[in-house]
Amino acid sequence: MARHKVTVIGAGNVGATTAQRIAETGLADVVLVDIVEGLPQGKGLDLAEAAPVVGHDARITGTNDYAATAGSNIVVVTSGLARQPGMSRDDLLSKNASIVKSVVEQAARHSPHAILIVVTNPLDAMCHVAMKASGFPRERVIGMAGVLDSARFRTFIAEELGVSVVDTHAFVLGGHGDTMVPLARYSTVAGIPITELLSRERIEALETRTRNGGAEVVALLKTGSAFYAPAAAVAEMVDSILLDRRRVLPCAVLLDGEYGTKGLFVGVPVVLGERGMERVIEIKLTADEQRSFNASAASVQELVDKLPA
Ligand SMILES: NC(=O)c1ccc[n+]([C@@H]2O[C@H](COP(=O)([O-])OP(=O)(O)OC[C@H]3O[C@@H](n4cnc5c(N)ncnc54)[C@H](O)[C@@H]3O)[C@@H](O)[C@H]2O)c1
Repeated sequence: MARHKVTVIGAGNVGATTAQRIAETGLADVVLVDIVEGLPQGKGLDLAEAAPVVGHDARITGTNDYAATAGSNIVVVTSGLARQPGMSRDDLLSKNASIVKSVVEQAARHSPHAILIVVTNPLDAMCHVAMKASGFPRERVIGMAGVLDSARFRTFIAEELGVSVVDTHAFVLGGHGDTMVPLARYSTVAGIPITELLSRERIEALETRTRNGGAEVVALLKTGSAFYAPAAAVAEMVDSILLDRRRVLPCAVLLDGEYGTKGLFVGVPVVLGERGMERVIEIKLTADEQRSFNASAASVQELVDKLPA
């Protein structure tokens, strides 16, 4: 039986680190693609030469040619620009929309049965672009954001309480970024809701830090944005899909009436398995939580409305 194949488009910080993590699990061969000549080939070769030391057998190759991606089980899309000084959010939206459209069209042509994991920002809007460009059903277009946002929340909860991150669990809903909705009553330490362990004030401070988690890293790095935790988050999703583990993970998916929203990609807990998004897990929200969710969905809609036709 052939090993699984994962294509990672964009051999930048997130893409190359994702390729490394996936290859090191030995779960799949990895094809790294970028528009810059030599970049994916160089990083691919470097990663392949680490394999004897790390002790895995995954094949890693780099290419500028989509023919090499044919028959991928999963395609991860990380290609895109970061916001440059002087560039508005809308500029970034239209530039990345055209990059995502072009790479997804090419990748989907060569791997018509693949599951797409979208990473490029603005995340939720790029999921819409990827879905349209691929023509794939909603089960096979999934955005990575919630796993990262909840990992950040878990990090801060563990730090605050002086406990292992492994025993923390965090529940976040909504769009990626400023409008995400952390749900404290479903965020736990060894099954105990954090509302039993921390004051409202401290929880709010941790939630705010989580919402600004990406900006905090950017401010420290000065050039570029987070990539270790984003790559780890993508690798967790890939693992759940390829091994059909059916992990329940927060992901951006096209809602079809769930949480009162239809036709929009928003972050919700889903079951990730061999078919991609196996199902959405829906819980009853309080009136306050639903208001925050709706506000988050409205901000995704605003971006989607600005997408080029
Ligand atoms: N969803 C999330 O939670 C999350 C987290 C981190 C980063 N991101 C986003 O992921 C994206 C990548 O971040 P990064 O830090 O890796 O950036 P990066 O600049 O290091 O890498 C981007 C890569 O994309 C490549 N690229 C550009 N246009 C291309 C095209 N048409 N075809 C193929 N490759 C192309 C570039 O050459 C570059 O190597 C950004 O949009 C970033 O905002 C999202």
